[in-house]
Amino acid sequence: MTIQWFPGHMAKARRQVTENLKLVDIVFELIDARLPMSSRNPMLDDIIHQKTRLLILNKADMADETQTKRWIEYFKEKGHHAVAVNSLDSKGLKRVTKAAEEVLKPKWDRMRAKGLKTRAIRAMIVGIPNVGKSTMINRLAKKNVARTGNTPGITRSQQWIKVEKELELLDTPGILWPKFEDQEVGYKLAVTGAIKDTIMNMDDLAIYGLNFLAKHYPKRLEERYKITEVAEEVVETYNHIGKLRNVKAAGGEIDYDQVSELIIRDIRNEYLGTLTFDFVEDYE
Ligand code: G4P
Repeated sequence: MTIQWFPGHMAKARRQVTENLKLVDIVFELIDARLPMSSRNPMLDDIIHQKTRLLILNKADMADETQTKRWIEYFKEKGHHAVAVNSLDSKGLKRVTKAAEEVLKPKWDRMRAKGLKTRAIRAMIVGIPNVGKSTMINRLAKKNVARTGNTPGITRSQQWIKVEKELELLDTPGILWPKFEDQEVGYKLAVTGAIKDTIMNMDDLAIYGLNFLAKHYPKRLEERYKITEVAEEVVETYNHIGKLRNVKAAGGEIDYDQVSELIIRDIRNEYLGTLTFDFVEDYE
């Protein structure tokens, strides 16, 4: 889904989340496990204030497991509850319900102590486009129910989806914008495919990816492209990868555009293994 985020859209998206906030006990903030910082909305703290939140690192199947574990610890140290899931795996999603129950247990215990009847936990999902909101709603509901519009902030009647006895979820997720002002964040979101159809130059993106891999995952680079670093003259690296993978134009010359596309495709399709692009140590 491509969304052009204009100020009007952002205001509407914010309003929609604020409205729905009144209906729920907990917000599920969906983030991309490959980008636990870069895939977060910059204003979510402002928007949801003190509302109880569960951070869900989705697409954990595509992320570096060691980093994911460290990120969970990192968030816990900051006082957030966090779980890592793969929304395509319905069984693993039980972790979400369990975590929500754990997070809200003190509140529910207090209600019970006052003799009040407890009910199912009510939750809503928020996150940037393409992070897996509809997939998660549909998998939790065990049928296709998620409602998404191409434009954020469209108001429609909402429905509660009964996930299990203990959890009800709003069928419309809150779609929020990513941190697109920061160029490096833009690269990370684009190179992983977390945002699509960017106006970014494919060569810049591929070179960013290569340099990131050389710094953080040199072994993967060696396995896939038989190099451990990116040459100072990047064209040498392109010639090497082009020859290795036989990416040639009609005249037999290396086709550099195709080399860029190949690198990005390899990263997005996990041919370089599971990768995380936000490293915990850069945020500590
Ligand atoms: P959204 O509502 O937040 O915009 O995201 P959506 O559910 O549409 O998911 C975006 C893409 O991410 C989908 O791929 C979906 O299958 C994939 N996805 C969601 N959760 C996970 C996960 O936990 N692991 C993996 N590996 N993929 C996940 P798609 O339909 O193929 O679209 P696309 O990849 O062509 O964009």
